[in-house]
Amino acid sequence: MTASAEKYTRQTLLDVQPLTPSLFTLRTTRDAGFRFRAGQFARLGVTKADGSTVWRAYSMVSSPFDEFLEFFSIVVPGGEFTSELSRLGEGDTLLVDRQAFGYLTLDRFVDGHDLWLLATGTGLAPFVSILQDFEVWEKFERIILVYSVREAKELAYQQLLAELRERDYLAEVAHKLQVITTVTREQHPGSLNGRITHLLESGELERAAGIELSAEHSRVMLCGNPQMIDDTRALLKQRDMHLSLTRRPGQVAVENYW
Ligand SMILES: Cc1cc2nc3c(=O)[nH]c(=O)nc-3n(C[C@H](O)[C@H](O)[C@H](O)COP(=O)(O)OP(=O)(O)OC[C@H]3O[C@@H](n4cnc5c(N)ncnc54)[C@H](O)[C@@H]3O)c2cc1C
Ligand SMILES: NC(=O)c1ccc[n+]([C@@H]2O[C@H](COP(=O)([O-])OP(=O)(O)OC[C@H]3O[C@@H](n4cnc5c(N)ncnc54)[C@H](OP(=O)(O)O)[C@@H]3O)[C@@H](O)[C@H]2O)c1
Repeated sequence: MTASAEKYTRQTLLDVQPLTPSLFTLRTTRDAGFRFRAGQFARLGVTKADGSTVWRAYSMVSSPFDEFLEFFSIVVPGGEFTSELSRLGEGDTLLVDRQAFGYLTLDRFVDGHDLWLLATGTGLAPFVSILQDFEVWEKFERIILVYSVREAKELAYQQLLAELRERDYLAEVAHKLQVITTVTREQHPGSLNGRITHLLESGELERAAGIELSAEHSRVMLCGNPQMIDDTRALLKQRDMHLSLTRRPGQVAVENYW
C-alpha cells in the first residue's frame, strides 16, 4: 500500500516531557491534511518490537490552529500501548490515523450561558485544546474548568492555563475563565479536597465557582474516569440535565477514557 493510501500518517516526536513517573506530555509534527475540532481525539499507533502495531485513542491537547500535535498521557503499568509509547523519544515515529473522532465538541450545545468542563486525570487534555480555541470564549459568558487529580504533583498544564490571559487574542475574554483544581489524596493549598461528585453533591463546587449549576444556564462537559462520568451524569440528571444528542439537544457531553 502506498503511504497516501494508508489510513494513517507517520509523524515525528518533537518533544517528550515527563510530569511524574506515570504522566508525560508529547509533541509531534502534524500532517498538513490532519483536521480536527477542539475536543476531538486521534487514534495513535506504536509499532512493537515484533512488528505489530497497537492503536489507542488520544485527545489532542493542542489547538486546531497549532502546527504541531500535543498529547498528555498516563503510563499504565504493563499497559500494552503506554509501555511502548513511554519508551519513545525525540525523533521517533508515531502513527496518527488520518481522521479525527469524537463528539466532545462545542457544537454539541445549541445554547447555554456557562460552560463547566469537568476532568479527572488525563481527561484534562481536550479541555486545554478547547480553551486554546477562540470559539468557546465567544460562545459562553463563564467557563469553569474543574480538574481532579490524586496528588498535587499530577496537576498538569497549570502554567499554560495561567498564561491564557496573556495571549493577545484572549486579552478581552480571559476573565471568563475560572480554574478550580481539586486534589483528592492530600491537602494542597489553593485546591479543593474531594471528588468532583462529592463537591457537586455538597454544593461546594457551586460555592467555589460562585454560580449555580442549572439546566437553564449551564452546559457541562465530562472527561476521564468512566465511573466519575456515570456518577456525575446521575447527579446532573437529578437537576434535569441530560446528554446532548443531535436529535435532542441537551446540557451534557462526555468522553470516557476506558
Ligand atoms: C476517546 C478516548 C480518548 C483518550 N484520550 C487519552 C488521553 O488523552 N490521554 C491518555 O493518557 N489516555 C487517553 N485515553 C486512554 C488511552 O486510549 C489508553 O487506554 C491508554 O493509553 C492506556 O493504554 P494501554 O494499552 O497502556 O492500557 P489499556 O489496556 O488501554 O488500559 C488499561 C487500564 O488502564 C487504565 N487507564 C487507561 N487509560 C487511562 C488514563 N488515561 N488515565 C487513567 N487510567 C487509565 C484503565 O483502568 C484501563 O482499563 C483515551 C481513551 C479514549 C477512549
Ligand atoms: N504509581 C503511581 O504513583 C500512580 C499515580 C497515579 C496513578 N497511578 C495509576 O494510574 C491509574 C489511573 O490514575 P489517575 O489518578 O490518573 O486516574 P483516576 O484514578 O481516575 O483519578 C483521577 C481523579 O479522579 C478521581 N476519581 C476517581 N474515580 C472517581 C469517581 N468515581 N467519581 C469522582 N471522582 C473520581 C480521583 O479521586 P480519588 O483519589 O478519590 O480516587 C482523582 O482525583 C490507576 O490505575 C493508578 O494505579 C499510579
